[in-house]
Amino acid sequence: MRGLPLDERPRNPTSLKVALFRMIVLALSLFTVTALVVVSHDQHFAILHTGRTNPRDFHRLPVQCPAQIPGQRRGMYADRLRGAVRVRTETFDGAPTVGDDAWYDKFYDLEAYLVDTFPDVFGSLQLKHFATHGLLLTWKGSDASLQPLVLMAHQDTVPVPEQTLSRWTHPPFEAVLDDDGWIWGRGVADCKSLLVAHLSAVSELLKAGFKPKRTVHLSFGFDEEGGGVHSARAMAAHLEDIYGLDSIFMIVDEGGGIQEGFGQTWVAPSTGEKGSVNIQLSVNVPGGHSSIPPAHTGIGILSAIVSTVEANPPPVFTMCLAEHGTIDAALKKLLQHERTWPAAAQWMAERNPGDAARLSTTQAVDIIGGGVKVNALPEEAHAIVNHRFGEEPPAGEARYLRLSTPGGAEASPVTPAKGNAWEVFAATSRHLYPDAIVAPYLTTGGTDTRSFVNLTRAIFRFQAVRDKERVNAHTVDERLHLDGHLNSIAWVHALMQNVDAFRE
Ligand SMILES: *[C@@H]1O[C@H](CO)[C@@H](O)[C@H](O)[C@H]1NC(C)=O
Repeated sequence: MRGLPLDERPRNPTSLKVALFRMIVLALSLFTVTALVVVSHDQHFAILHTGRTNPRDFHRLPVQCPAQIPGQRRGMYADRLRGAVRVRTETFDGAPTVGDDAWYDKFYDLEAYLVDTFPDVFGSLQLKHFATHGLLLTWKGSDASLQPLVLMAHQDTVPVPEQTLSRWTHPPFEAVLDDDGWIWGRGVADCKSLLVAHLSAVSELLKAGFKPKRTVHLSFGFDEEGGGVHSARAMAAHLEDIYGLDSIFMIVDEGGGIQEGFGQTWVAPSTGEKGSVNIQLSVNVPGGHSSIPPAHTGIGILSAIVSTVEANPPPVFTMCLAEHGTIDAALKKLLQHERTWPAAAQWMAERNPGDAARLSTTQAVDIIGGGVKVNALPEEAHAIVNHRFGEEPPAGEARYLRLSTPGGAEASPVTPAKGNAWEVFAATSRHLYPDAIVAPYLTTGGTDTRSFVNLTRAIFRFQAVRDKERVNAHTVDERLHLDGHLNSIAWVHALMQNVDAFRE
């Protein structure tokens, strides 16, 4: 998932009140949708498993299930993922233009590795390149009247800063598989596991002689961590040219996962994605020789401002998934009435920083700079604060400063938690996780699906990995448990069959 997109057009700030009001409305509508969906689940489940009593639903039966990975092949699947992690594909902010620079050649290495590892997939599907390294694979279905399925992942990773190398338990590009089943390395969780899972699922289906009726596309960008400007945009435009607007049955990309909490297992696809705005704070002061320093240099003043920003987080609002879980009596009471939902959200957010991030507009001071020489007072110092918002950007926190907004992004449209695509998604998930409740969720980071929003409303940002099986994406000791990787292959394998068998 993307950290800090810098490529989008600036947004007009709106008033804080309007932004907060819209976030509350969004939150309440998501809550309502969640409750409806949860109630209708047993029916989805029945469609796949015992739905034979209803001839209308025959077409919804999976072609082949369950999709279990045989134990003796665990090693092979682990090795395929580990090999992908060993090819370093870090993206940096301010990366050069594609084609100008040998800097991108590492993506040739990854492509070569994938072709070598999945000769059946690359031999049977059509491959088209976008901006040199964006890979779009097409598995043509026999019935062109059926809307296609698009499976997405990205090839690039965030960087490993040189100075953090020594803090890794295992070197980040060796992809060590430890005795407990963890694979360690940069990009293993975000998002090479999903990339390899998509290819593995296709490979398994090819091996089984599966012939899709519905066309499947695999879309693998290479600059997602830098904003997806080169590849995702081009691939989305290409699909729009072929099929037109609102023409894709379902898109699956990275995002949510399987969560445990409140006495329940939750299959939690992200059905929405926060927007972001980057606010640049610039302090311009007279320079001079540092032998005669003022009380505060520009950097000193900026530091004081940054501390103030961090000490004043914006308020928290509600979006709740806890309706059907075993929950604290106090929280349950707060959830009973709409007017106390904000208090419920506050309750959750205070106890869990992850909930706090999802329930509120977040802010993070991510970049700071200033000063050029040890003996010269800095004339300029700047910091960039990244805000993530549910619907409208907050404004006003930094009104005492000269501001600019270098990039940002709209919040995504929300995937409906009902309708054909939702039913197939939920039924597949319940098939593999019978005890889980499938509930819509909100992604705190951005994904390449941002470029695909006009192709379908049915965008599910999800990988069938338990939260406890993937840790530290974007930081030191990123790792993923092999069980999670295998489960996500099995889930994609099942989903592809169900989507193929489904008739609108
Ligand atoms: C989607 O369509 C809207 C309306 O035409 C347009 O403004 C927007 O740029 C499109 N988004 C993408 C990602 O293509």
